[in-house]
Amino acid sequence: MSQIQNKRKAGSDVLRRLTLFEKAALLSGGGAWKSRALPRRGLPALFFSDGPHGLRKQEGIGDHLGLHASRPATCFPTAATVANSWDTELAEAVGEALGNEARSQGVDVLLGPGLNIKRSPLCGRNFEYFSEDPYLSGKLAAAYVRGIQRGGVLACVKHYAVNSQEFRRMTLNAVVDERALRELYLTGFEIAVKEGKPAALMTSYNQVNGIQSNENPQLMLDILRDEWGYDGMVVTDWGGSDDHIRGIQCRTTLEMPNPGLYAAREVLRAVERGELSEAEIDVCLKDYFRTLRRAAVQAKKAVPVDPLRQHALARRAERESAVLLKNDGILPLSGEETVALIGDFAFMPRYQGAGSSLVNSRRVETLAGQLSQRLGNKLIGCASGYARHGDDSKRRAAKRLRRALKLARKASCVIFCCGLDEMAETEGLDRKTLALPAAQRRVLHSLADVNPNIILVLSAGSVVDLSVERDARAVLHGYLGGEAGAGAMSELLYGEATPMGKLAESYPRALSDTPAYPYRKLRGNCAEYRESLYVGYRYYDRAGLSLYHPFGFGLSYTSFSYRDLTVEAEGVRFFVKNSGARDGAEIAQLYISALESAVFRPEKELKGFAKIFLKAGEEKEVFIPFDDKSFRVYDSARGCFIEEEGRYRILVGASAADLRLAAETERGGERMLIPQEKKRLPHYFSGAAQQVGRTEFERLLGRKTERPALAGELLRGDAVHELRRSRGLLARLIYRGLQRALNKSAAKREPNLNLIFTYHMPFRAFSKFGSGRISPEMTEAVLLMLNGHLIAGGRKFFLEGLKNRRENRRNERALR
Ligand code: BGC
Repeated sequence: MSQIQNKRKAGSDVLRRLTLFEKAALLSGGGAWKSRALPRRGLPALFFSDGPHGLRKQEGIGDHLGLHASRPATCFPTAATVANSWDTELAEAVGEALGNEARSQGVDVLLGPGLNIKRSPLCGRNFEYFSEDPYLSGKLAAAYVRGIQRGGVLACVKHYAVNSQEFRRMTLNAVVDERALRELYLTGFEIAVKEGKPAALMTSYNQVNGIQSNENPQLMLDILRDEWGYDGMVVTDWGGSDDHIRGIQCRTTLEMPNPGLYAAREVLRAVERGELSEAEIDVCLKDYFRTLRRAAVQAKKAVPVDPLRQHALARRAERESAVLLKNDGILPLSGEETVALIGDFAFMPRYQGAGSSLVNSRRVETLAGQLSQRLGNKLIGCASGYARHGDDSKRRAAKRLRRALKLARKASCVIFCCGLDEMAETEGLDRKTLALPAAQRRVLHSLADVNPNIILVLSAGSVVDLSVERDARAVLHGYLGGEAGAGAMSELLYGEATPMGKLAESYPRALSDTPAYPYRKLRGNCAEYRESLYVGYRYYDRAGLSLYHPFGFGLSYTSFSYRDLTVEAEGVRFFVKNSGARDGAEIAQLYISALESAVFRPEKELKGFAKIFLKAGEEKEVFIPFDDKSFRVYDSARGCFIEEEGRYRILVGASAADLRLAAETERGGERMLIPQEKKRLPHYFSGAAQQVGRTEFERLLGRKTERPALAGELLRGDAVHELRRSRGLLARLIYRGLQRALNKSAAKREPNLNLIFTYHMPFRAFSKFGSGRISPEMTEAVLLMLNGHLIAGGRKFFLEGLKNRRENRRNERALR
């Protein structure tokens, strides 16, 4: 018998020996970061840690919001940053380094990468995600997964699915049509699952089309398991489980993090009532044991971690990901200029976002430190220029500005560091505007009056309003560059490296231009994705909108020319030449456009890319292969992807708006079973995606939309902020207290993640975190009290509390 067969047999032997209660107990987490161990059956716990761009291993108090300290680790640039490299080899290297660090700290599962689609630039977690495009997101996520798992731990892709906003993320229902779901929101996960083979996947907090994501049979069984062949473990997001039994029926392996043993009792009761079969439980446990075996294989890898090498890789990642957005020739600097370095971010960089991904970085570089080393007395001075959170008094602001202007007048050029502050980029909160803080804009404007040679160094993990470009001769966008970001930026500014990053998202001129903008208000708890497929460049292309910068855009210190496109059966071939005087790299992009189709389509879609390193004057032949995604479209009537027969335009270029080569090709294929009708879906066919009315959206969905009525009383699925509409005095008092505390932290521009999380958390989630101390019945009792039935609620709480304790003790004994 082979080793694998042996292990499988061992797995099914264990399964046979377990009691039903033990089985049930294994299906939920056993601590903030652990699954449940069963020592007497020889079953260890799996240890989880966050870490999409750096490990966050907590050893003291565990929390999932980045509040308590974690062990020092390397902070790499975030996913939004590395996405701009379009470099799967680099993504894999970063993944491997993350995996190595996680392995060296005894972690089994790394909770990342996140690959949700950037539906709107406002999503507070965009810095953790890759792109507005699913193909690019999927390819990069797959590369991270391969790297992480080669590095010695298991990767957990997240958040499956349609988790594109933070506001009310735990109670939200994302209403999305089937084609957008399949072609946009799931394609990245499909690529990550099939090409990366992650051992774990985390479901999202939100519902998808009215069903909690991990209880959604279409998402979890039909697509993930049957269609994509996923055989790994599924964990819920922390506190994101609702009906544990339905989750198990959809093959959710673990309800996380720590509901305690009442969750096991729920499973037993469901079996007794005939609602759940032991076979369904066993299916989940087989996934779990497979994961334990995979973790055990990983644990044997010994990986020494060298912090200096990790730091160097973090620097390389930023160097190859920063995007040069504007340059009239002022960059690269020669080193002969006298420089005034202005901006708070030069001293205290913004290099990562807040929330569960927060890394306790080992060594953070600053631009002030880097430039003073490099320039000596050519750096004539540094000044903060503005207060980080714009909270200065008028007098202090004027003083700061005076000092900045004084330096700017003396210097031959100004490097101005600006961007978004901490509050703007955090889990749990979305932004309300694209604008950079007013204080920064004002200072920049005044600096431009006294010194025309302004170089803007931008730090932000998501799209910002780039009207500030007017005041600068060059703009270098570092996104969130990780702990070594400043060093990389200094190399780029001084031409030791040539910028090669290209934007993985479009930069619109106004927030109101973004396709989802008209649909930003929720209807009840529903976020209606009426824009459907028209996200990012898929919309801007069709609407013909002028942008600050298109998807795929980025400048270099050299230039590239393209020639001779040929379309072959297997892919496209062309030549790219470095026609400038410096070595550099070009990211060539392949877009495909269907010239005839029975359904509405975006103008073109990204279907391939290649990063080509070229010495000055060098030319290379490039081949980008087609794959199963190149020509496919989702046929809702058949319930699968098909390739439509017909003509296609093949476009190759330097960005979505700078297409250098074009050709046409004919593909044999199939016909859509039921074409979409132009007259029934006029705005979808014309691309006027901001003008879709309810009726048209309902036609696209093929069903009526609902606006769930609010019940008079608070229910277990309601979020804590709903306390405001309660009739109970206690509830309203708690609400007022919470609101006051939230306002206070917003005024200080310091996100209080604990509060934000609690505010948006549904009542049911309290018991998912409570290590079994809070049973769902106790939550019901609290709700009774909050609904104004203080005595009945209090009594129930007391009695249920006693009962829960008694049962927990009994259950714990049974597991010992
Ligand atoms: C986040 C996840 C994270 C988990 C554990 C949740 O709030 O949404 O991305 O992995 O916490 O920290």
